[in-house]
Amino acid sequence: MTMTTTRGTLPSLLTEGRAVFPDGFVWGAATASYQIEGAARDDGRGPSVWDTFSRTPGAVAQGHTGDVACDHYHRYAEDVRLMSELGLAAYRFSVAWPRIRPDGSGPVNPRGMDFYDRLVDELAAAGITPYVTLYHWDLPQALEDRGGWTARDTAYRFADYAAAVHARLGDRVRHWTTLNEPWVQAFLGYGSGVHAPGRRDAAASLVAAHHFLLAHGLAAQALREAGAPEIMLVVNTAPVLTPAQIADAAAEPDEADAEAADRVDCLLTRQILDPVLLGTYPATVLEIVERHAGLSHVHDDDLRTIHQPIELVGVNYYSPCVVRSSPGEPANPAYPGSEGIAFPAVEVPVTAMDWPIVPEALSRHLLRLSRDYPDAGLMVTENGAAFDDVVTAGEGAGHVHDDDRTAYLDSHLRAVHAAIEGGADVRGYLVWSLLDNFEWAEGYARRFGIVHVDFATQRRLPKDSALWFREVAGRNGLA
Ligand code: FCB
Repeated sequence: MTMTTTRGTLPSLLTEGRAVFPDGFVWGAATASYQIEGAARDDGRGPSVWDTFSRTPGAVAQGHTGDVACDHYHRYAEDVRLMSELGLAAYRFSVAWPRIRPDGSGPVNPRGMDFYDRLVDELAAAGITPYVTLYHWDLPQALEDRGGWTARDTAYRFADYAAAVHARLGDRVRHWTTLNEPWVQAFLGYGSGVHAPGRRDAAASLVAAHHFLLAHGLAAQALREAGAPEIMLVVNTAPVLTPAQIADAAAEPDEADAEAADRVDCLLTRQILDPVLLGTYPATVLEIVERHAGLSHVHDDDLRTIHQPIELVGVNYYSPCVVRSSPGEPANPAYPGSEGIAFPAVEVPVTAMDWPIVPEALSRHLLRLSRDYPDAGLMVTENGAAFDDVVTAGEGAGHVHDDDRTAYLDSHLRAVHAAIEGGADVRGYLVWSLLDNFEWAEGYARRFGIVHVDFATQRRLPKDSALWFREVAGRNGLA
């Protein structure tokens, strides 16, 4: 077994000064339906697992829900104008399945589809390229009631839904993403239970992960048959490092730590990308799946279905995953099979999410992905940071001097640039997020936007980081 994540040294990078990106590099921002749309009951939208989960006492900080969120459903035209003023060339958003098929599998709801139709037209008029994600975690509750992602049928329902959305938008949308971060919904949704649907069952999470991959493969087939020119899967992949490697990139872990890092890498990254891009499951993953859930849910032809040619892997990166060997440690519920492994905190600056800031790790990871999965290009589809923003008085609505966020984005863009210089095939960078929004279990308390949202008035205020990002995108590089 290769130890791809734990060997080798970080390139020395993060140069200061000018960093010019390749011609055609895509600059933009990303959002997700449940996090910004609101209008939870408008125009025939059905309930999703996040509507249910956010109403479960104690599930989301301060009992927040996405009922109103950024009210983007009604303010999309204003938001597209804002994107245009910020010079964004691309906008990644997700379609809410429960708007399109309110009960998950019945007839298409034309009024739900109309919203995305209007949004795509508005983007076209502003010259902004849409990147459509078909699933960013808002599963119709009706499907969860029938087993959710633990039910094989959900994968087939997803492919039907994907085809229906393509039939309506495919004349104007070229860039299609099947799923956003299947690992997160499988293992935080069905394993640790901190995300919807809030189940805590190791076997269910591993079965769900396989069904997500099947859903990706079936939808990729359907999209391709319908003529989609570019298909992407977006993953929350991150390098798995030991505390010693965070302090010193060249540190060589001992055998036990190397095994711990390799096992977690198999669970976090290779469990998803090996089947999709290589058509195989790592032996370590199969052994863990079999021990917890058996293998009867993995049917004979599944890997062939999952292994569809795709153009791009979308990389959502915030922080490395830090582990060390810790004999006797129970498994982390988000990582079934991680017995004997600790996930320690490390002594580096963190964001308001307590996520360590380690931009160099992004560089190394992009190089590794390009090397291990050469058949797909890469795009950074999410990167950004929550900080405790302060609105200061000034002209108009005031200012948000978010130098910490700008520094985070600058250092991570330098890491992307260094990876490209090193040979990684990275085609674009989408900042997370356009707007402050509903940050899942953290509610509205964690602000990731480059645009501040006053949730009482829905007023949008570009932060300093947004103005900085406009300049970077405009000159295709860092000054
Ligand atoms: C990612 C999600 C995105 C957002 C960021 C902070 O895992 O895809 O919706 O919540 O984290």
